[in-house]
Amino acid sequence: MVNKIRTCVFISGNGTNLKSLIKNSKKRKFQISVELVITNNKNAKGITLAKKNKISYKFISSKNRMRFEKKSLIEIKKKKITFICLAGFMVIFSKKFILDFDNKIVNIHPSLLPKFKGLNTHRRVLDSKDKYSGCTVHFVNSLLDSGKIILQKKILIKKNETEESLKRKILRLEHIAYPEAIFLIFE
Ligand code: GRF
Repeated sequence: MVNKIRTCVFISGNGTNLKSLIKNSKKRKFQISVELVITNNKNAKGITLAKKNKISYKFISSKNRMRFEKKSLIEIKKKKITFICLAGFMVIFSKKFILDFDNKIVNIHPSLLPKFKGLNTHRRVLDSKDKYSGCTVHFVNSLLDSGKIILQKKILIKKNETEESLKRKILRLEHIAYPEAIFLIFE
C-alpha cells in the first residue's frame, strides 16, 4: 500500500503490542503505518521501540486528563494522524475525545469481552473457573471496554494455569489478534 493510514499508538507499559503493530506495519499489505507513539509513562519500555524504529514519540503527563488530551491532540494534528490504537494504555479518554475520533480508536483487552472488563483480568478469570479465556480487539466508546467487538481469539484454560502463564499465553495471542483485527477494519 502506498498511502497507509497514519496511526498513533498510545502506551503506558511494555509495548509488546506496539512491537507487533510496528512489525506488521512494515508489511506492504498492512494498511496502517505507526507514525507516532504517545505515552503517559516516562519509563514505558515501549519508548525504546519507538526510538529503535525511528518513530516520533512523546511523553505527556496524564495527571491532568484535560491537559493530556489537549497536548495529545496537538501532536496528533501535527503528524496528520487519522487512526488511534490503544495498547496497554492506562488512561480512560473523555467522551469528547472519543467522539472526535468516532470509530477511529481501537483497543485490545486480555479477556473475552464482555466478560472481565477492567483490571486484574487474569486473576478474575481464574477465580471464575471459566473454561476459556482470550483477548478482544474492539472499538473504543465512552464506556470501559464496551465498544463494538472487531475480533476475539480464545484459548483453553489448563488445570494448572496460573495468572502468569495465562497472561503470557494471552499476550502471545494478542500479538496476532491486534494486527488481524486492524486488517479486517480496513479490508
Ligand atoms: C495487554 O495485555 C493488553 O491487552 C492490556 O495491557 C497489556 C499491554 O501489554 N490492555 P503490552 O504493553 O502491549 O506488552
